[in-house]
Amino acid sequence: MQAAILSRAPTSKDARPLSPEEFRRYGHRLIDWLADYQESLSDRPVMAKTRPGEVRDALPATPPDEPEEFGAVIEDLDRVVLPGLSLWQHPRFFGYFPANALPAGILADLVSTGLGVIGLSWQSSPAVTEVEEVVTDWLRQMLGLSPAWSGVIQDTASTSTLVALICARERATDYALARGGLQGETRTPRVYVSAHAHSSVDKGALLAGFGRLNLRLVPFDAKHAMRADALAEMVAADIANGDLPCAIVATVGTTATTAIDPVADIAAVAKRHGIWLHVDAAMAGSAMILPECRWMWEGIEGADSLVINAHKWLGAPFDCSLYYVRDPEHLMRVMSTNPSFLQSSVDGEVKNLRDWGIPLGRRFRALKLWFVIREQGVAGLQKRLRRDIANARHLAELVAAAPAWRVVAPVNLQTVCVRHHPTAPDGSALDGEALDKHTTQWVEAVNRSGAAYLTPAILDGRWMARVSIGALATEAADVEAVWAAMRAAAETEMPAAAR
Ligand SMILES: Cc1ncc(COP(=O)(O)O)c(C=O)c1O
Repeated sequence: MQAAILSRAPTSKDARPLSPEEFRRYGHRLIDWLADYQESLSDRPVMAKTRPGEVRDALPATPPDEPEEFGAVIEDLDRVVLPGLSLWQHPRFFGYFPANALPAGILADLVSTGLGVIGLSWQSSPAVTEVEEVVTDWLRQMLGLSPAWSGVIQDTASTSTLVALICARERATDYALARGGLQGETRTPRVYVSAHAHSSVDKGALLAGFGRLNLRLVPFDAKHAMRADALAEMVAADIANGDLPCAIVATVGTTATTAIDPVADIAAVAKRHGIWLHVDAAMAGSAMILPECRWMWEGIEGADSLVINAHKWLGAPFDCSLYYVRDPEHLMRVMSTNPSFLQSSVDGEVKNLRDWGIPLGRRFRALKLWFVIREQGVAGLQKRLRRDIANARHLAELVAAAPAWRVVAPVNLQTVCVRHHPTAPDGSALDGEALDKHTTQWVEAVNRSGAAYLTPAILDGRWMARVSIGALATEAADVEAVWAAMRAAAETEMPAAAR
């Protein structure tokens, strides 16, 4: 097949890309297609009913030898792709976390790709860097952060946290990367995280070379927040043992329950021992544009770095993760490489964002944030987030008031964690594995019905259902609808013992 592709001599007809006129025509058609998709979302099942391999089997196993009519590609979007999608933008999508794609952000992504520029350095496309400088600073102000913070856009929180942990490692070891790396260190480096931290934090610590055995899981309290007193004890014991505490990762808004680690108390421990504090506010960070939510990260100015995913609740389409640091010089010293072909005469006056993270090339992601903030205004973004928080509180009240239903974690933001506890006719409550089975079955029934989509998770050793509210289109009526679907499914899936 490869030989066939290579040997085909392209003619001027079949080798040419879409002409500007065709691009305009198909482009308009695809924007219409996306607008129709948005308008028709609520009529579609939320979760894909696809069987494993079904999409693959509907596509040819080998690439087309000859150019195809481009309209056929668009038709296959309807025929093959759309039925194979679980619909994150659906008004009754309550799974994982909101991953909102505001229409203005979609257009920005199109422009970013359409411009076809790459920000290898400031000079390689000055506006890519400078728009990013401006919008990361706009967002800093929106979040109520002091001017001591400088931001850069990364692809994901996983990357931002990896960068933070590498920077922590290098500060603690006085730039071991310039010597023998961690292998050359005599003291054992340690990283401290709550057991409720996102898996990307574990992954970042492992990729940064710390090793699983050096990842300390700090105990948490009844609200699933890291215990600062336990952290202080662990750090003191490790120092007494001659180890090297390098980094603490606190989470504001954990993935399972949106639990809030006490940043001020944790920052005090970090400061006492000169340990790097990174705050993972990937999900909850968006809520910091609401002054009434900022108590959740009180003490944030004591952190060294933080991450917020604008591609979650805020509305910039994936991927747009904001990484803020207080010491950009340190970040650049760790990340910088300066090959001659990338140097320019203005390097002393400009930011070269390749030195602010891992990849060399960067897309024009800043356009997404720029379009979204301008089109919505801060007030528009705040209004939607407040709507979602109010909807979550309303659902929590409904659940708490219903017999046999329990809200199993504090509702800090837009996620409501629930269990249904049926009682047998003899009055005994379903528990243990039987309760787990019931929970996963009724959640699966909701998802299978297509009426709504929930993702279950394990909390305190038992399955529970998370209702993560916050898709752009989700209104109070959709929350009432998922609640009705949950009650119906829990009733239908009621175990015989509880009937
Ligand atoms: C608290 C938290 N941190 C990190 C992540 C990972 O985000 P990303 O997919 O941008 O790496 C998530 C995603 O769910 C999250 O909830």
